[in-house]
Amino acid sequence: MTRSGLYGELAGYYDRTYHRKDYAKEARALLRIARRYGQRVPVSLLDVGCGTGRHLAEFRRELSVAGVDSSREMLAVARGRLGRGVRLVHGDMRRFSLGTTFDIVTCLFSAIAYMETRRDRDRAIANFYRHLRPGGVALVEGWIRSSRWQGTHGDLVTYEDREVRLARVTSSWREGDHSVVDFQFLIGEPGAPVRHFAERVRNPLIDTEEMLGSFRRAGFRAKVLLGGQYRTRGLYVGVRPIAS
Ligand SMILES: C[S@@+](CC[C@H](N)C(=O)[O-])C[C@H]1O[C@@H](n2cnc3c(N)ncnc32)[C@H](O)[C@@H]1O
Repeated sequence: MTRSGLYGELAGYYDRTYHRKDYAKEARALLRIARRYGQRVPVSLLDVGCGTGRHLAEFRRELSVAGVDSSREMLAVARGRLGRGVRLVHGDMRRFSLGTTFDIVTCLFSAIAYMETRRDRDRAIANFYRHLRPGGVALVEGWIRSSRWQGTHGDLVTYEDREVRLARVTSSWREGDHSVVDFQFLIGEPGAPVRHFAERVRNPLIDTEEMLGSFRRAGFRAKVLLGGQYRTRGLYVGVRPIAS
């Protein structure tokens, strides 16, 4: 299989790169929010842009779960984590069709930022709507809000275990209505030359009203939560009305 794009290269190292991210805590908070806003008792959840399946591994403790992602390499890691019992589908968030509906649809850690245009974003969010039962709830974690992007940024992540030494350096800046994040990875594994890969990712910077517009055009009743960890990115909560 050929590796494609950032996530193709990164898949085997993604969990190490984000080893400090507390998926269990996030999943608990997201389920509380889904139960608070949804209008049905949730028993099923679809995670779109599920990556390596770390949120799914938490959600499955309480719900029947499925995932969609456009990276086969990320899905392969998720498959290793979740086993054959979880439906994982290769697909694009704008057009996948699972032929079934869920009580909760999530799209987390800014996977929605890969929607380049308003039309793409509208298509993705309308697709989340189609995959929800009436009364079900969509939870979408946005990308950094336009008004919160200040100047240039940069960071360094390092990680080491017996098999892998990893360093990720990022620099990011704004170009008009877009953020640009320059990723450079160095990966050392025993008995192999140090690998280097790099990717520059350009994502649109939008404000909360633009994102809420996509939800409303799809038919959702929507609001954004900006507390705690969602202060800079926003967590968009869309409820599919029962009578629609
Ligand atoms: C930042 S990662 C987030 C992964 C996961 N949700 C998490 O919290 O760790 C973004 C994910 O979105 C996926 N992705 C990007 N564009 C996509 C698209 N058009 N349709 C579906 N998934 C997409 C990538 O392959 C990647 O796994």
